[in-house]
Amino acid sequence: KVSEGPTEMDLVSARVMDASLSLLWQCVFSPANIVGLVAFVLLFYVLQQYERHRRYANIPPGPKPWPIVGNFGGFLVPSFIVRRLAKYRKEFAKMASNPLSPQAGLLEMSKLYGNIFSIFVGPQLMVVLTGYETVRDAMLNHPEVFSDRPQIPLVTIITKRKGIVFAPYGPLWRTNRKFCHSTLRSFGFGKPSLEPCIYEGLTMIKTELQSLIEKAGPSGIDLTPLISSAVSNVISSMSLGQRFHHQDQEFRTMLDLMSHGMEISVSTSILLVNVFPWLYYLPCGAFKELRRAEIDITAFLKKIIARHRATLDPENPRDFIDMYLVEMLAQQMGDNSEESLFSEDDLLYIIGDLFIAGTHTTTNSVLWSILYMSLYPDVQEKVQQEIDAVVGSERVPSVTDKGSLPYTEATIMEVQRMTVVVPLSIPHMASETTEFRGYTIPKGTVIIPNLWSVHRDPTVWENPDDFNPDRFLDEQGKLLRKDCFIPFGIGMFLEIIRKKVIPVWKDMRVSK
Ligand code: HEM
Repeated sequence: KVSEGPTEMDLVSARVMDASLSLLWQCVFSPANIVGLVAFVLLFYVLQQYERHRRYANIPPGPKPWPIVGNFGGFLVPSFIVRRLAKYRKEFAKMASNPLSPQAGLLEMSKLYGNIFSIFVGPQLMVVLTGYETVRDAMLNHPEVFSDRPQIPLVTIITKRKGIVFAPYGPLWRTNRKFCHSTLRSFGFGKPSLEPCIYEGLTMIKTELQSLIEKAGPSGIDLTPLISSAVSNVISSMSLGQRFHHQDQEFRTMLDLMSHGMEISVSTSILLVNVFPWLYYLPCGAFKELRRAEIDITAFLKKIIARHRATLDPENPRDFIDMYLVEMLAQQMGDNSEESLFSEDDLLYIIGDLFIAGTHTTTNSVLWSILYMSLYPDVQEKVQQEIDAVVGSERVPSVTDKGSLPYTEATIMEVQRMTVVVPLSIPHMASETTEFRGYTIPKGTVIIPNLWSVHRDPTVWENPDDFNPDRFLDEQGKLLRKDCFIPFGIGMFLEIIRKKVIPVWKDMRVSK
């Protein structure tokens, strides 16, 4: 096809376009506009700094934050770069040779800045509470201000702020919490009626252990999958109404996804999502893996909820899900005009919370106990002697034996004190601006109670780094309750867990 070339009309419109662009250019980039723009940017910056200064005028002391990344710049540097830099800079050499756990690192910082100090993650202010007195004062004397949960971008994306653990403090959270507590209780949480389920787990562990040891020989075995199956089966039988075989493919996959998801959620690259939330949607690496885990766990739980809905008999609820569905239907059919606080969507996140909050914590506590018993055979011997004397060898211990096994209980408490499986608790948030111990804590500040520091606080524990169950016993060998023992944090829900979980966990003793 032969081109006919531009027409007169095309030339005129091209000239008009040129002229308009040049006019626009002159208008936008005229000296007056450039001066105006610079003035605007400067004014914006000054106002922002002023607002920041005003907002953070009296916050607790802390290290100076870097722009954009806050105080986590060093933390975000990948480990291979840290190793390289270690050759040239002292602070990087320290980071590479002695990587501290976050809780120990924060305890070190408190020695520099005090028991209440500020750090910034990106633009987010966090206040870290260290030591028993400070944590207790905040959580017990100011619960109405410090009980809220923060909107951490990564957590908000995954949980949509539903369920219990990361739901905002308010009517929905209260309703869910109350419902969970009474319903779990009615399905045996902390009661002898749950024990057959725990014993079943124990029998499975013993049988599997024997065959695994025979197969593995001297190379040793990893106990984690066995213990986590047994623990999550207890949670499963209360909430989903079914136990799974520990090798059930679907169940195993869900447990692996949960634990893998938890692991990668604290990896450096994923933590960056809290500074740049769009990273979560990247189609590669840890981001893709975490999204896959989220999708698969949701699909697994949705399938179980749908199965419950299809076979629901409101007169005979079988488990937590049935109870929730019955309550949800009752609210939907009720004639009160108030919007129902129960929904299948919320149910999904509550179940997820129970699994995630309950499985990892209890499994790790059992694993730590086994490790401590191997490290301290003399303590193991005394625990075994007490159990043999009180319970005998014909049966396994029961919740009802609790009061008669003080040394065993003191040992469990000492393992919990030393290890603190949730060392920085679950972050809290200041729901309003408040004065605390002479500092101003602005609304929206994330509050991190360093529970680990409380359990290593030399002002309340003698030789806190030593493993010594006797610290929980008086001269007559009776159990001493100590307010500074707070593995479950300090607060309202925690009393419930303290009373209900310990007896259940205690039954999972190390067998001779
Ligand atoms: C040894 C075992 C456990 C330990 C050490 C532990 C520890 C904790 C800690 C430190 C918190 C944060 C408290 C706070 O916000 O200040 C917490 C919250 C929570 N835990 Fe556990 N936990 C354990 C077992 C369980 C189990 C078995 C369940 C349920 C099946 C559970 C469900 C929850 C829930 C729902 C919350 C959120 C409570 C709320 O926001 O009010 N935990 N736990």
